[in-house]
Amino acid sequence: MVKKVKVGLLASGNGSNLQAIIDQSERGELPAEVVCVITNRSDAFALERARKHGITAIHLSHRDFSGREAYDAALVAALKGHGVELVVLAGFMRIITTVLLDAFPLAVLNIHPALLPSFPGLDAQQQALEYGVKVTGCTVHFVDEGTDTGPIIIQAVVPILPDDTVESLSLRIHHQEHKTYPEAIRLFAQGRLSVKGRRVMIAGGHASSDASLINPPV
Ligand code: GAR
Repeated sequence: MVKKVKVGLLASGNGSNLQAIIDQSERGELPAEVVCVITNRSDAFALERARKHGITAIHLSHRDFSGREAYDAALVAALKGHGVELVVLAGFMRIITTVLLDAFPLAVLNIHPALLPSFPGLDAQQQALEYGVKVTGCTVHFVDEGTDTGPIIIQAVVPILPDDTVESLSLRIHHQEHKTYPEAIRLFAQGRLSVKGRRVMIAGGHASSDASLINPPV
């Protein structure tokens, strides 16, 4: 049996990705255990989701610290204190520093609601709609010192429909996020990920496929 990797999850809001990870893990489908959830906002629903599942829920306000490094040092202390091996950012709306990255080398993941390197930063869904692309999606990547620039582990493509709003598009992207984030964590837990330059190599690979998405359909 694969050893369960201890996950510390950082969130700022709703926590639907957290829920997907907890659900798969409780169903025994994911060799991972969320051991603590930390938010920078006291009203983040992610805290309630964690408590409901008996997971340690911590509110750590960035306002109580002198700067990003000091805040990240407190995050590191809390995460290490809970034996965390993998840090999962899921809607954590803060830029993190080398203080956190150096404490967890190649063990910090992020999910972004676009096909990186397109539309990094805030309001990715709105950026995609305004640009007029026909497909967007989500990306799970290792975190490096840039904003949404780290090596990419997995991506899912989501078509943009003529009547889409930010809300309708976000809903369909979320649906894919809830599949891709657990999969990235599974690959990490199984020790199958390595990084060569910018490329993430997956040991054992995956079946080759002709699958493609053309939008609008032909
Ligand atoms: C997700 O869509 C995630 O991709 C996005 O925040 C949402 C959090 O949803 N992250 C970013 O935009 C980071 N740049 P959730 O709280 O329901 O998991």
